[in-house]
Amino acid sequence: ALKSSYVTKAQKESQRSYTSVQPQASYKVAILGASGGIGQPLALLVKMSPLVSALNLYDIANVNGVAADLSHCNTPSQVTAFTGASELANCLKDVNVVVIPAGVPRKPGMTRDDLFNINANIVKTLVEAVADNCPDAFIHIISNPVNSTVPIAAEVLKKKGVYDPKKLFGVTTLDVVRANTFVAQKKNLKLIDVDVPVIGGHAGITILPLLSKTKPSVSFTDEEVEKLTVRIQNAGTEVVEAKAGAGSATLSMAYAAARFVESSLRALDGDSDVYECSYIQSDVTELPFFASRIKLGKKGVEAVISSELEGLTEYEQKGLEALKPELKASIEKGVAFVQKES
Ligand code: NAD
Ligand code: LMR
Repeated sequence: ALKSSYVTKAQKESQRSYTSVQPQASYKVAILGASGGIGQPLALLVKMSPLVSALNLYDIANVNGVAADLSHCNTPSQVTAFTGASELANCLKDVNVVVIPAGVPRKPGMTRDDLFNINANIVKTLVEAVADNCPDAFIHIISNPVNSTVPIAAEVLKKKGVYDPKKLFGVTTLDVVRANTFVAQKKNLKLIDVDVPVIGGHAGITILPLLSKTKPSVSFTDEEVEKLTVRIQNAGTEVVEAKAGAGSATLSMAYAAARFVESSLRALDGDSDVYECSYIQSDVTELPFFASRIKLGKKGVEAVISSELEGLTEYEQKGLEALKPELKASIEKGVAFVQKES
């Protein structure tokens, strides 16, 4: 009785709410590369999701502290740390969504393709484990160069006989987030309303914002189109240069990746109105992988909104033709990397 007098009414109420927090759904999410620059803030944002019951964090280093820290947040999901290759299989058991931000980031002067030699192997190894342990999961690839790492993941899954192209996604949400922000700023629009589809791939000129398809409908001068397009294409480099050797975008990336995770979980949970842009196996162009707007459903990609590629402006059409050779080469490089080993 004496003790309880120290507890204020507000504390009692908040204690009650701590114990009554329940997940609204019980999906399991794994983050591979969870103690990195993207991994940590992404884990925090996913920890806030009411749709998640288990959050499995994997890294080769420093993941125990991240998990201990996050586990004190009074949100529903159970956070568990997995360190090193021997714990990877357990991390992936029964997981619904696997997010892969493992790998090295760029420094000033580098292209995303300069990361290929290190990150290709990391993605290959991790996706092999995904194939063995949770082949039905949605797989979100963040590690660069995305234009090549997604084809690498596809080849690995094919080799393992478990490839479902509807469930393999290159995360290009950050390109959309940036396009929305820059257009809203330029045109003085309410951020929440702006939606710009971004197609192609995720590097330099392969990133193609379709400004003519912006919602709400806005008109741009030719100069505005040119400036906005180039800024969206170079936004990653803008951050790499500002960080001056300390890495690339992590916080905006975590925000974008968390949005894509939440969209995937909503789709898995039966929401029939979930649309995102993503880099996937595709037949909207002659290239085998291409980013465009998709509808997400319980089984992954439910539809590709190919109508958005109709009626492009001359500028966009030129941009589309110009990006194809580079994107094709990046895809072929990824495929060859896995095939040469067999
Ligand atoms: P980081 O170096 O801060 O973190 C990477 C993490 O991966 C580290 O914790 C490291 O220990 C871990 N790691 C390395 N090898 C691993 C392995 N085999 N298994 C598990 N974990 C491993 O880098 P970051 O800033 O988080 O960036 C990660 C990647 O994301 C980079 O390749 C970067 O280019 C890419 N990226 C992509 C986008 C996008 O839009 N798709 C945006 C930003 C960054
Ligand atoms: C980005 O677009 O920010 C990422 O792909 C990281 C990078 O290297 O630019």
